[in-house]
Amino acid sequence: MRHSVTKNWKKIGLSILVALAAAMPVAAMEAPIVPIPLHVDYDKKKAELGKVLFMDPQISADKTVSCHSCHSFDHGGADPRPVSIGVHGAKGNANAPTVYNAYFNFRQFWNGRAKDLKDQANGPLHNPVEMDMVPKEIEAYLDKNPYYHEAFREIYGTNPTYDDMLDAIAEFEKALFTPNCKFDYYLRGQTELTPLEARGYRLFKTLGCITCHNGVNIGGNSFQKFGLIVPYRWKPSFPDRYDVTHNPDDRNVYKVPTLRNIALTAPYFHDGSALTLTDALKMMAYHNLGFELEEDEIVVIEAFLKTLTGETPAILRQD
Ligand code: HEC
Ligand code: HEC
Repeated sequence: MRHSVTKNWKKIGLSILVALAAAMPVAAMEAPIVPIPLHVDYDKKKAELGKVLFMDPQISADKTVSCHSCHSFDHGGADPRPVSIGVHGAKGNANAPTVYNAYFNFRQFWNGRAKDLKDQANGPLHNPVEMDMVPKEIEAYLDKNPYYHEAFREIYGTNPTYDDMLDAIAEFEKALFTPNCKFDYYLRGQTELTPLEARGYRLFKTLGCITCHNGVNIGGNSFQKFGLIVPYRWKPSFPDRYDVTHNPDDRNVYKVPTLRNIALTAPYFHDGSALTLTDALKMMAYHNLGFELEEDEIVVIEAFLKTLTGETPAILRQD
């Protein structure tokens, strides 16, 4: 018998169903997981320029922080630190999500305040605890640098502008897709899962994880509450969905994160509070489904989640 966090399992079970049904469009409840496309059309020249910009600490106020400082390719495009550290050692309040496959998210940021990648990139550059720059300073720097000057002239036909820089970075991020994980091969009928992985996938569906984590990014396509069943502590400093909508129901509501490459992107959650995948699963089941996972359930779900690690994006393998 599953150990429910309240004595009245039936009641909590019902409340989960009601809460999930209310939170979920019907389509999402049936939505399958879809493989990452094998090809994404992107402009190679823009993306290569975007890659150089992404790695360049000179576009931060104290010249120490690049996009890559917080979205490391050695850590699945995410930050191994629970919360990111920006210019002048300033501590942020959020765990940096992965930039891999971010292109497939319906909105950007934990609370979805940016509509796309270009809109998003504007955020950290201005943020005083991230890169803290003003567009004019960046343009002046890019213009003085012979490589950038030439590249912008060639690609955009003008001297470097801030807007074109955002465009190039966004194009690079578009190229950061990670196809061909084992699970995608399985979905395409090209391989079998091991019995352990298959049990994990079955549980992922029967326990209800898939109601929120589905689609091409196994997440990234809806806003959901963290603490749907058992409330999760809320920190006034953190920009949740309420910050955007001012709807009291949106406290502690975030964009459901992608589970692609999840084995590479510890720590987890918007506040980096789960240091390991095991912790993340326990907390998810407890707060969002209302029960504690058995040890063997954790083992098989983790085995399934490990099949979601895809190939390193081709654009990072070219040099
Ligand atoms: C100081 C660390 C830091 C730097 C530098 C930084 N980021 Fe981030 N990034 C974060 C954090 C933290 C978040 C989540 C913030 C939030 O959602 O409120 C984030 C969110 C994102 C997201 C949204 C992903 C998603 O799923 O919502 C993208 C894309 C992204 N960053 C790209 C970039 C790019 C491009 C740059 C460089 C221009 C950059 N970041 C610089 C820490 C950083
Ligand atoms: C009601 C919707 C919902 C359900 C059901 C749900 N999740 Fe989540 N999941 C979320 C949200 C929202 C977050 C982000 C929470 C946060 O960071 O505050 C999340 C985060 C995660 C994370 C951390 C991702 C990261 O990058 O930080 C993992 C791992 C995860 N979920 C796995 C699962 C598993 C496994 C299940 C089933 C046992 C499950 N989830 C059920 C909505 C859900």
